[in-house]
Amino acid sequence: MLKKKRHLRIGIFDSGFGGLHVLRSIVNTLPHYEYVYLGDTARAPYGDRSQETIYAYTKQAVNFLFRNKCGIVIIACNTASSEALRKIQDRYSLMRGSKKVLGVLIPAAEEAVQRTRSRKVGVIATRSTVASNKFARELTKLDPSIQVFQKACPLLVPLVEAGEQDSRETETILKKYLDPLLRKKIDTLILGCTHYGILEKKIRTIIGPHIAIISEARVVPKKLAKYFARHGEIEETLGKRSGVLFYSTDRTDNFKTLGSKLFGRKIRVERAVLR
Ligand code: DGL
Repeated sequence: MLKKKRHLRIGIFDSGFGGLHVLRSIVNTLPHYEYVYLGDTARAPYGDRSQETIYAYTKQAVNFLFRNKCGIVIIACNTASSEALRKIQDRYSLMRGSKKVLGVLIPAAEEAVQRTRSRKVGVIATRSTVASNKFARELTKLDPSIQVFQKACPLLVPLVEAGEQDSRETETILKKYLDPLLRKKIDTLILGCTHYGILEKKIRTIIGPHIAIISEARVVPKKLAKYFARHGEIEETLGKRSGVLFYSTDRTDNFKTLGSKLFGRKIRVERAVLR
């Protein structure tokens, strides 16, 4: 019989900094595990890239995390989840051992379906996530009567990556992006890009108090806890020593400064080489 691996880590991958926001709330909810975060800052943003490129980059990132003792990897990037997750899941399910890859898009869609009353759901995301139509497909698969209104917001990721989340320019751009969705009278808004969670406060002031905001930073930790409760055979392979290792594919000083702000405490960052 094969000896079971133990002390494995949970890998969290994003194209850049956005996933740190999700990681922060996963760690707050499930603090006793060991995490590895990888931000592919050298090649971010992914949002305007082709499906082939996003798949190739995501595959390298997931391989890196598995090489670094992760037993499970969460692709905390909607762009990569919509363009590469299924293929990557298929690839790893064919391999030996219990390597699991999860995404963030379906949990968000499930939450939106539970929250909406008017069945008019708005989605803001990167260009490639919107073009993939993945959110619309998942939402209508769950409830065919739902109307989905999507808006690509290509300027938001570069603004967040530049640390401009609190600026007035960001607010002006957000208003422009959100206005067409508000005119459709949506009652639920999915933040379909992990970076947008960082803008949630600003988004709330623009859309007012009555529209439900679906933020993956709130949804994913709950779903992950349930996943572990259902899959004891995976949970028992995970190390319980608490801690997070951070990797970036570009300058670590930049990552350290903005990353510490977004993660909420000082972080140490190592350089990752993806191949
Ligand atoms: N954070 C990624 C997402 O959730 C997108 C950022 C990018 O364009 O690289 O879609």
